[in-house]
Amino acid sequence: MIRVEGLTKVFRRPRTFSGPFGALRTLVTRQYEERTAVDDVSFAIDEGEVVGYLGPNGAGKSTTIKILTGILTPTAGTVRVNGMVPWRDRSANARRVGVVFGQRSQLWWDLPLIESLRLVGSLYDVPAARFDASLRKLRDLLGLDEFLDTPVRQLSLGQRMRGDLAAAVLYEPPLLYLDEPTVGLDVLAKEAVREFIVETNRTGRTTVILTTHDLADVEALCKRIILIDHGKVLFDGAIDALVDQPRRLVVLLESAPEEVRGVSRDDEGRHVFDIHGDLPALIAAISAEHTIRDLSIEEPDLESVIKGIYAR
Ligand SMILES: Nc1ncnc2c1ncn2[C@@H]1O[C@H](COP(=O)(O)OP(=O)(O)O)[C@@H](O)[C@H]1O
Ligand SMILES: [Mg+2]
Repeated sequence: MIRVEGLTKVFRRPRTFSGPFGALRTLVTRQYEERTAVDDVSFAIDEGEVVGYLGPNGAGKSTTIKILTGILTPTAGTVRVNGMVPWRDRSANARRVGVVFGQRSQLWWDLPLIESLRLVGSLYDVPAARFDASLRKLRDLLGLDEFLDTPVRQLSLGQRMRGDLAAAVLYEPPLLYLDEPTVGLDVLAKEAVREFIVETNRTGRTTVILTTHDLADVEALCKRIILIDHGKVLFDGAIDALVDQPRRLVVLLESAPEEVRGVSRDDEGRHVFDIHGDLPALIAAISAEHTIRDLSIEEPDLESVIKGIYAR
């Protein structure tokens, strides 16, 4: 459904000078600064997948999504979405994808939500019967009724997000891009957004690409993640494989030796052992040689695994 190969985006912007006559210098020198936001990224996503596209601020997530939706043109690389080149077949592509940017609403601020949705329906040529059926389903799923007649500018962030999600799937696109859809939402609103994504994927077999800072989103929704940093892919694969690592025994020893049984002391003065077989035997072996001041067992969790990948 999505094929991305060697995708690269370099932003060029005029180099700016400060100080007296800075603006003039900026104008006459015409020097440019280049920033590679997406750097030789390749991946393929199949129909029905929910993929988490993750990375720290400035990693290149939004830029990738903007290229996939056809808003931006890449510097290099090839992209096929539903067989189309998004930035070339822009309007045809737009009908087959839904997009939500959490940071910015796509709705019309001054219109009541229902009018915004009707406008989306007519822009995308949704037949009246299909529009009604779709709206009925979404009112239910997203609990839109209490604010359908409220102008978008008066909606709370959580309500606005639910409105944006409704607008994005009203024409039943097979593919949905969600860029930080839970940013700034409270726990309940996040839960509503997650339920909506699960349901949309399950009933419509909608393919979802999701960027988020909230790993609870990822754990609730994604089987697969693509991790990027500085525009490059660091990891692409199943979360299960990532988290399928041994539990670890963390010990703090009285004498804090440099090394114990092949394990070096970490920054916090602890020794961290992978637990493979017999835990009591491991503890006994350590305490035969050292006095244990404190010990704990760490389960591998997504957050610590991802931190580990970025640390490398
Ligand atoms: N329109 C633009 N012009 C210049 N630089 C940009 C532009 N958009 C994004 N960037 C830069 O590209 C990098 C990646 O940005 P972005 O894709 O928004 O990251 P993310 O969504 O992962 O936080 C950042 O360094 C950002 O400053
Ligand atoms: Mg972003």
